[in-house]
Amino acid sequence: MRQTVIAGNWKMNKTPSETRLLLNEFKELLKNSKSKIIICVPTISLKDACEIAKDTNINIGAQNVYFEERGAFTGETSPEMLDDIGVKYVIIGHSERRKFFGDTDDTVNKKVIKAIEHGITPIICCGETLSQREKGVAINWVRKQIKIAYKDVTKEQAVNTIIAYEPIWAIGTGKVATSEQAQEVCHTIRKCLAFLYDEETAEKISILYGGSVTKSSIGEIVSQADIDGGLVGGASLTSEFAEIVNIADN
Ligand code: PGA
Repeated sequence: MRQTVIAGNWKMNKTPSETRLLLNEFKELLKNSKSKIIICVPTISLKDACEIAKDTNINIGAQNVYFEERGAFTGETSPEMLDDIGVKYVIIGHSERRKFFGDTDDTVNKKVIKAIEHGITPIICCGETLSQREKGVAINWVRKQIKIAYKDVTKEQAVNTIIAYEPIWAIGTGKVATSEQAQEVCHTIRKCLAFLYDEETAEKISILYGGSVTKSSIGEIVSQADIDGGLVGGASLTSEFAEIVNIADN
């Protein structure tokens, strides 16, 4: 039985001071939750966030990582740096990184491999655009993203990864995919993992849905057979996040 995972993606929101305040609030609100909670904060707040979350049930994640160990890569953060301050999760290949910062399926794969090498669990994002959905190519697109993301990832490594299916047309738009649409793609992703590895491995990997998740939609989303939780953007910036976790718990 897979544990429900609720991850918050704060994107480029909250200063370090605001981060401390909100995390302290979450710490109290979430202390009895059963779901695995991961909060992905901006890089500048990671160290503070890790300190606040120490000895709590909140896990801290980064929103990106680079695939080289060190060197002349101005502005980037290496997996070793994340590991050094206790970051255990990292979002890789979010559609905003793909759209604005040049992430591709190949760089996603390199980042996934590096994160795993450093014991950091990648939260691998995939998802189609509206026009791909309208053309009926969404499923094949996501399957391709997954196959490339897991290239050279062993079965033993794959079980410690998380996937977030985030249809791009549903991110920050208020348009949630219907639970049938989300389940259909998440089921395809699990099938694809079974093809790449085996059924047993595929059954162990958590697949989240992301895209305008709120307290009104989370219940139906997590009731789907192949959806194990949510990657929550906007609604993770307020106490609504605790309500989402609470609903997912029950
Ligand atoms: P949203 O963002 O919940 O604000 O749509 C989700 C995401 O981009 O991870």
